[in-house]
Amino acid sequence: MTQLPGLLDTEAIRKDFPLLDRTVHDGKKVVYLDSAATSQKPRQVLDALNEYYERHNANVHRGVYTIAEEATALYEGARDKVAAFINAPSRDEVIFTKNASESLNLVANMLGWADEPYRVDHDTEIVTTEMEHHSNIVPWQLLSQRTGAKLKWFGITDDGRLDLSNIEEIITEKTKIVSFTLVSNIMGTINPVEKIIRRAQQVGALVCIDASQAAPHMVLDVQALQADFVAFTGHKMVGPTGIGVLWGRQELLEDLPPFLGGGEMIETVSMHSSTYAPAPHKFEAGTPPIAQAVGLGAAVDYLSAIGMEKIYRHEHAITEYAVKRLLEVPDLRIIGPATAEDRGATISFTLGDIHPHDVGQVLDEQGIAVRVGHHCARPVCLRYGIPATTRASFYLYSTPAEVDALVDGLEHVRNFFG
Ligand code: ALA
Repeated sequence: MTQLPGLLDTEAIRKDFPLLDRTVHDGKKVVYLDSAATSQKPRQVLDALNEYYERHNANVHRGVYTIAEEATALYEGARDKVAAFINAPSRDEVIFTKNASESLNLVANMLGWADEPYRVDHDTEIVTTEMEHHSNIVPWQLLSQRTGAKLKWFGITDDGRLDLSNIEEIITEKTKIVSFTLVSNIMGTINPVEKIIRRAQQVGALVCIDASQAAPHMVLDVQALQADFVAFTGHKMVGPTGIGVLWGRQELLEDLPPFLGGGEMIETVSMHSSTYAPAPHKFEAGTPPIAQAVGLGAAVDYLSAIGMEKIYRHEHAITEYAVKRLLEVPDLRIIGPATAEDRGATISFTLGDIHPHDVGQVLDEQGIAVRVGHHCARPVCLRYGIPATTRASFYLYSTPAEVDALVDGLEHVRNFFG
C-alpha cells in the first residue's frame, strides 16, 4: 500500500463513515471522490441527529417546558461550537442559514436594502471573480440588476489562478463589496485572500468570502482572515444538509437590515410596524434548521477532535500524489493548477476528447464516484473553452489506493473509447 507522509489513520476514520462500506454494480466497492459536492457523514453526526429527534425534539426559543429548553440549549450550543471552530469573536456573529447560497444571498440583500454607508446603488460597484460558484455570481447579478450597480470581476490565468494584475482598476473607490471564493470548487485553487482584502480595505469596500470549499478542509479563522462576511455550508464538512452559516462582523450585523421577515426575528410587532431582535436572530426568520444545526455541531466536534491542520496535511499529501499520478495518464489535462501548491484537494480534468459524462459513467461502472459537468461554475468552463470537466475531490477519508483506483479507472475509460 502506498504510504505518504502526513496521512491520517484512514483505516480508523473510515470505520466512522458507514456509506464508505457500500458496494454498487454487483459488489464493486464505492470509491467516493465527490466530497466537494457533499461529504459523507460519520456515525457521530448521524447519532446526534437521531438523539435530537428521539429525545429533545421541540421548537426553540419559545417553550417553557423542559424538552423545549433542551432543544434551545442544543441549537444555541451548536452556535457556540461553530463560533469556536471559526474563532469568531462573538457567538452572536454566527447566523444559521440553510446553505452557503442562502448565506451569500443574505449578504447581497442586506446590502441592497441597507442605508448609507453600506447601500449598493447605481453609482457603486460590486466585484466578484470568474472563478466563483454560481451562488457567488447570481446573487450579485440580481443585486446589480435591481440597483443599477456595476458588476465587475477578476479573470483567471491559464494555470487556474486569479488574475489580479488589474486589481486597482477592478477594485476602486466606487466598490462597495468584493465577494470571492477562498478555494475554487471546480479547480481547487486557493486564492490570495490577503492581497485582495488589503486593496478592498484601501478603498473602504466590504469583503465577503465564500468559504464553502475551505471550512471543511483547513483552519478557518475569521479574525485572521479580516473579512467582513464569511459563508459556508454544513454538508460539505461532514454535517447534514440544510444548514449553512454566515459569519458577519458584529457592528455590520447590528446596522444592516434583515432580509426575511417572520417569527423569531422580531422584538415587537404591531399592525403598523415592527422592531427587530438583535443579531443573529434578526436574520433567522421562522423555525430554524434545529436538528441540522445540532448535526453541524457534532460535525464540528468530529473535525476538531482530528484537527484541521492534520486534515489539511492529509489532503495535501493525497493531492500531491493525485496530481502526479493523473499527469501520467495520456491525454489528461488538468483544468486549474497542475501542482499541489496553493490548491485544495479538488482536481478537474479533461481526458482527450472523451466527454466527461462518458468518463463519469464508465468510472461509475467500476464503483468510482466523481462529478462531471460544469460544477455550478460555468464561467470557468467558458474561460477554458470546454463544455465540462470530470472532477475528483478528496477528503479526510480518502486514500492513495483510491487515487490508484481512479487512475486505473481512467485507463479503462481510455481503452473503452479506443
Ligand atoms: N457546490 C457543490 C459542488 O461544487 C455542489 O459540487
